[in-house]
This record gives sequence, C-alpha cells and structure tokens, in this order.
Amino acid sequence: MLDSNVRLPEPHRIEAEFGALPQLPRAVIEMTELDIDSPNFAEEVARIAEMETSIADQVMRIASVQIPLPPEPIDSIPEAVVHMGSRAISELTGSLSALSVFPPITQEHVELWRHANQVAVIARDIAEDRSIGIDPQAAYLAGLLHDIGRFLIFEQDPQALSDSSVRGRPAAPTLIEAERARFGVEHAEVGAMLCRHWGLPTAVCDIVRLHHSVVVADEPLLAQVERCLPIIQQADHLSSLLSRERRLLELPFSERRALIAAHCMSTYRAAASTPTRLAERLDIVVGRSRDLLRNLGLGSSSPVD
Ligand SMILES: [Fe+2]
Ligand SMILES: [Fe+2]
Repeated sequence: MLDSNVRLPEPHRIEAEFGALPQLPRAVIEMTELDIDSPNFAEEVARIAEMETSIADQVMRIASVQIPLPPEPIDSIPEAVVHMGSRAISELTGSLSALSVFPPITQEHVELWRHANQVAVIARDIAEDRSIGIDPQAAYLAGLLHDIGRFLIFEQDPQALSDSSVRGRPAAPTLIEAERARFGVEHAEVGAMLCRHWGLPTAVCDIVRLHHSVVVADEPLLAQVERCLPIIQQADHLSSLLSRERRLLELPFSERRALIAAHCMSTYRAAASTPTRLAERLDIVVGRSRDLLRNLGLGSSSPVD
C-alpha cells in the first residue's frame, strides 16, 4: 500500500498498486465469453461456477435458502442451477467473484458494490431487448465492472473524495472533477487500466474507460463497445436516479417516464433503450436487484436497492 502522506500520486502510482490486488477470478473473464443463446449455456454456467471452490460454496449456500426452499439441501452447482436458473447462477458467480477482489468490508465498499450490481442488473435487462445486439451476459459484467476504478481511487485517499459523493451514489461531474484535481486521472481510466491488467477483453476495457464520455470523437470502436456503451450509461444514470429520487417507484407512470427521459439517456450517441421501456421495466429491475443484493449480503436500508 502506498504512503498515504504522499500528495498528488500520479496515475502510474495507482497502477503500481495493481500487483498487490488479488487476481480477478478467472470465472469473471469466462463469463464474459459465454453465449446466453447457446444450448450448452446452463452446463457452461455450472462449469464456470465450479471453478473456484470458495465461490461455488457461497453459490450453493445462497441457493439453499431461496424461497421456495429446495426439498433437499443443495450440495452441487448443477442442483443450484436447477433450483435458481442458469441466469441467476451466472449473475451470482460473476458478482461474488468480483466482490472477492474488493471485499465489501467498509460502508463505502458496500455502497460502491450496491451501485455496481444494480447497474449490472439494469444493463442486463436493457440488453434483453435483443434488437440492440448485445449479449445480456456481457452487459451484466460490463455494468458490474464499470466503476471498478472507484475502489482504487477511494483507497488512495478516502478523505479527499468524501465531499464528492464517494459516500453514496455518484454525482458524476463533481466526482470526476475531484478525481482529476486530486489524482490527475479519473476512475474510468483507472478502471480500464485495471481491467487490462486483469486480461479482460478489449471491449470491456473500452466500455469501462468511456462510461462517462459524452462524445468519442474520431476513435474507432469495436461494434460491441458502440452497442454496449449506451446501455451502461443508461443503467448508470438510472441507478443514480433511483438513489436520488426515492419516490420514483411510487410516481404515476407519466411522471416516472418523464424523469427517466430527463435523466437517463445515454450521453454517447444513440440511447440503447427508450424512456417508456425503462419506466415499464422499473419495478422488475428494482425487484431483481433487491434480490441480488440480499443474496450477496449487500442488503440495505434503501427502498430502491
Ligand atoms: Fe463511473
Ligand atoms: Fe456508476
């Protein structure tokens, strides 16, 4: 760990921390490569979930307490897949694997992981509109990792960023300005550097790097990035809106839709989803994210989590 008395660490000083971090479990990388439409999807999910014994044990424990309770205790991953479904097991495996790198010990880490997992769930739901052309599995993992750089920025100097919403959800422009002023680099860049260090696919690294970008001028991007970036931006904005507007779920549909239209459009080229679809799906994604957070031990006092 770096000396906390050293002021203004350069980006390469943050990069020097990477070697001290645990490696991202291989399961996350393999999950990014899964094809949800493959006839072998369930078997592949089970195979990946079994890769890390500690993760597999957690998945089986979580599956064992899902309502309706299984008739017998669950003691294998295939049984967990049968009980919860392959999608739920793939989400749990991806999220538990990511959490193992930055365990949610502090309240700040818990808040960051709540946001990341909520963005993942929303992003996956947007991508389930298959006309967008992004695998929902890939959208989930990009959402899960999009703010991974915030963990490193926060560890550099928790106090320096406390006024700029490290506690709670991001007020993005303020946060990014504070990061640039303090560290000379923002969390999106740090996150992309870390994803590259972990050997994640180029598309994932680029989505993480560009998730706060307004315009990407003259930069040729992979088709997957072009399609997935608006999904992550919309999911990010919707998660932030949910944390600011606690009454969003109680509003009449027209007001809910208007707020989403005002705050949740992608800043990068075309939006992925419409305000109407986002508003229609809101109860479902909030319910899913609440279930996931509870299963991950990230349950909260927030009515929207
Ligand atoms: Fe971010
Ligand atoms: Fe975010």
